[in-house]
Amino acid sequence: FQPKWLAGRKVVLTAGPTFEAIDPVRGITNSSSGKMGFALARACAHAGAQVVLVSGPVGLPTPFGVERIDVASALQMRDAVMGRLAGADVFIGVAAVADYRPEASAEHKIKKSGEAMTLTLVPNPDILAEVAALPEPPFCVGFAAESRQLDAYAEGKRRNKAVPMIVGNLVQDGLGQDDNLVVIYDDDGKHPLPRGGKMGLAQRIVEHLSGRLGRHPA
Ligand code: PMT
Repeated sequence: FQPKWLAGRKVVLTAGPTFEAIDPVRGITNSSSGKMGFALARACAHAGAQVVLVSGPVGLPTPFGVERIDVASALQMRDAVMGRLAGADVFIGVAAVADYRPEASAEHKIKKSGEAMTLTLVPNPDILAEVAALPEPPFCVGFAAESRQLDAYAEGKRRNKAVPMIVGNLVQDGLGQDDNLVVIYDDDGKHPLPRGGKMGLAQRIVEHLSGRLGRHPA
């Protein structure tokens, strides 16, 4: 039984990695599996929300009742998110978006030359920060994936990106895995959750989120 904490709400989420093409066969990506973001999309749908899930390249089935948009690059993810935000009450950025992309993607496969090669990278837009900076933003939830100093870095990202709530995790605790260990940070401080499966954690995060939206569970 799942209380309908998000009934009548529209939630837009991102999940998975992005893929930044170098040429038609190569690219820059990371090892996000999409499991955390897909679990959250599912938990939001179970809680009664209308859910739009913008996903990078992952091998996961679409959760029941969720509208899914597949993208590859950060630029495509940004466009898909911005195009779906109308009427959204909540935006949750779970995707591991590449901070940089190759300045240019070669039209044809780059041939081996035996010489050293330099790849010039340019910054990608920060989707979460852009959504949070909209004139009337939805309630924004970020994630922070760190390899150390979780409290300092996660809270720093919450402030820098001007989002009310961020979910921090250490990559060694959850990236690519079925379980995770997360801490929620908001205006009231830090709220550690016990280690557990991503679906159970997603339900706890939705419960916390609904409280922040002013719809406290009974
Ligand atoms: O996919 P799994 O294998 O289940 O792993 C889950 C996870 C570890 C990927 C997930 O729990 C997680 O931490 N996701 C955020 C990963 C990340 O890229 O964090 P970050 O600290 O680099 O980014 C901070 C926030 O800004 C995130 O909400 C991110 O989506 C967002 N961001 C970052 C860069 C960018 N260019 N645009 C963004 O929107």
